[in-house]
Amino acid sequence: MSDTTFKPRVFSGIQPSGGLTLGNYLGAMKRFVDMQDAGTHETIYCMVDLHAITVWQDPATLTRNTRELCAGFIAAGIDPEKSILFNQSQVPEHAQLGWIFNCVARMGWMGRMTQWKDKAGKNAEAASLGLFAYPALMAADILIYHATHVPVGEDQKQHLELTRDVATKFNHDFGVDFFPITEPVIEGAATRVMNLQDGTKKMSKSDPSDRTRINMTDTADEIAKKIKKAKTDPDPLPETAEGLEGRPEARNLVNIWAGLADQTVEDVVAQNAGKMFGYFKQDLAELAVEKLAPISTEMARLMEEPAEIDRILGRGAERAREIATPILEKTYDIVGMVRS
Ligand code: AMP
Ligand code: TRP
Repeated sequence: MSDTTFKPRVFSGIQPSGGLTLGNYLGAMKRFVDMQDAGTHETIYCMVDLHAITVWQDPATLTRNTRELCAGFIAAGIDPEKSILFNQSQVPEHAQLGWIFNCVARMGWMGRMTQWKDKAGKNAEAASLGLFAYPALMAADILIYHATHVPVGEDQKQHLELTRDVATKFNHDFGVDFFPITEPVIEGAATRVMNLQDGTKKMSKSDPSDRTRINMTDTADEIAKKIKKAKTDPDPLPETAEGLEGRPEARNLVNIWAGLADQTVEDVVAQNAGKMFGYFKQDLAELAVEKLAPISTEMARLMEEPAEIDRILGRGAERAREIATPILEKTYDIVGMVRS
């Protein structure tokens, strides 16, 4: 590829398809805040409502979840002046570039996506067409801003590889060096927060059992109770991080600690070596309450002013469009669409 240089720009998105979990917070949102505060990149964060409706969403619930997610972003430390914060459907350029990418990406690429296979399940015939095309829209979310860096949790790695494939194929097909080859940013101790009752499964907002996750709206009592009841094995904490091998529940609690306290897994293990999990969980519950309870309190406060949230989203969308519009126009020119 030639030496075109792209402005350092971060984009990431979260679906307003249910409440925020500790997995979203540690795997994504907390790192969004770090990247915003580092000041090295322009930061753009999006509530991807168009992605959410690839599976059924009750309209009133979707509206509420979008506002609650926006409150979550702000309560976690996203400053809507410093970052651009908006919901996807208010910036039509995402869907417009998404269509172009539907024509660039291949059926075979989509069919290999593990998220598609998991979500479509055995009855793919009944899944929406949007669910199949989901990763092409995700590529558009990122590339409509020429974003260079995308912080996400581990589960999004394959989608980001596909984004790189879409950019490469577009550039190649049209003989241009127009879309950047985006770097995934999958870093930190908690890129994959696991289910509190089964350390082999991801913590998810869609799990039917609420005991398996910590919600960002949970009260201090609920947070403490869920951590104290989290599954563990009977052994004490190991002397070194290698001792967590084959102990998924133990590893998960250590990772959560490391993520919340901004420490490495090695440090957490060294500090707690030999401790029984009963005690470790008590300390972890305290740490989690200290870090998370203020966020849920602030979210609840912000949710009392939905009009203010909508104003923030609208303003964010305007700023987003200032970047997206010229990139879409240039894309249309490259493809050969007449614009008059
Ligand atoms: P979603 O809620 O699926 O839209 O995910 C939003 C962001 O949170 C993405 O960057 C995910 O990778 C991240 N994420 C979701 N669940 C987890 C988890 N259990 N551990 C770490 N990151 C997660
Ligand atoms: N697919 C992501 C998820 O489920 C959400 C998402 C949509 C996203 N568009 C994005 C993440 C663009 C990063 C960049 O977690």
